Amino acid sequence: MSRFPDARLRRLRQSAPVRELVRETSLEPRQLVLPMFVREGLSEATPIGSMPGVMQHSLDSLKAAAVDAAEAGLGGVMLFGVPAVRDAIGSGADDPDGILNVATTALAAEVGDALVVQTDLCLDEFTDHGHCGVLTPAGAVDNDATLERYASMALAQARAGSQLLGLSGMMDGQVAVIREALDDEGFHDTLLLAYSAKYASAFYGPFREAVDSQLQGDRRTYQMDPGNRREGVREALFDQDEGADIVMVKPAMAFLDVLREVRDAVDVPVWAYQVSGEYAMIEAAAANGWIDRRAAVLESLMSIRRAGADAVLSYWASEAARWIRSR
Ligand code: PBG
Repeated sequence: MSRFPDARLRRLRQSAPVRELVRETSLEPRQLVLPMFVREGLSEATPIGSMPGVMQHSLDSLKAAAVDAAEAGLGGVMLFGVPAVRDAIGSGADDPDGILNVATTALAAEVGDALVVQTDLCLDEFTDHGHCGVLTPAGAVDNDATLERYASMALAQARAGSQLLGLSGMMDGQVAVIREALDDEGFHDTLLLAYSAKYASAFYGPFREAVDSQLQGDRRTYQMDPGNRREGVREALFDQDEGADIVMVKPAMAFLDVLREVRDAVDVPVWAYQVSGEYAMIEAAAANGWIDRRAAVLESLMSIRRAGADAVLSYWASEAARWIRSR
C-alpha cells in the first residue's frame, strides 16, 4: 500500500482545505517579534534607505508603531536605540536618560500589557568605534571588561521596564554575568534571550545604516565564522547552561541547518532573526517585479519556523501578522 498506484501523495494536496488540514508547520502572529529603531532627537520618523518600509522612529512614532504591533497580535517588539552622542565605552547604553532606556519606559507603559517589550543589549550602537564591547589599549575587544558594561546595561534596561533582554554582543560568559547581576538586584523575572549562534554575516549590511554604525573593520573575533555548524550548537548549549531562557540563531535563512540542530539540542525556546539583508533582498526583488512580495515573505517566515524557530524576529512582523489573520 505504500506504493503507487495504491498510495498517491497528491491526495494530500488536492484542495486548499485539505492542505490546511495537513500542514505540519504553523505561522501565527504571536510567534513574531518586530525589531524597531528609535533615534535620539528625531521629531518624526525617518525612512532607512536600504530597508524600504522600515523607519528610524521618533519617540512618538515609535509608540504608534508599537500600538500597531500590539493590535496586529505580535508576541513582542525588540528595541534598538540610536544615540545622538557616542563615546569609547558606550555611556549612553546604561544612562537612565539614554534614548534606549527612555524609549523602553515609554513602550512598557504604552503596550507592556499587550506584548513583551524587549531591548537589544549590546554596546555597538553606543560606542564611537562601533564595536560591541570596550577596547584594550591595543584596540582588541576586551571580553571581561565588556561584561561589566553589559551588567550595568542590563540593570538600566530592567529598571527602565524591559521584560526581555536580547544579549547580542557575543562576549563569552555574558549570560551568566548578566543573570547574576539581575538576580542580585531582585530582577528574577527579567527574561534573557541569548543570541547564541550569531554569525559574522554580510546580511547585516542594511542594519548598519539603520543604527548609523561607526564600525571600521569587522566583528570576526567575536561573531561566529559562517563555516561552523557544530560550534553554533556548542554556543547554544553553553548559553543554556549559563541560564539563558531562550537562545537564538542569526541570521536565519543562511543558517537554517544550524537552527534545526540547535532546536534538536536544547530544551529552551529557540528563536531566529530574519535580518536586515534578508529583508532588503526580498524587498528589492519585489520592487523590481521579480518576485511576489507577500508570497515570498510568508514562505521565508514559514521556512524559518519549519527549520525549528519557535519565534521569529522580522521587520515584516506587523504586516505579516495581518496577512495571516486575513487569510
Ligand atoms: C549588533 C546587532 C547586529 C544586528 C542586530 N544587533 C549585527 C551587527 O551589526 O553585527 C543585525 C540585525 C539586522 O541585520 O537586521 N548588536
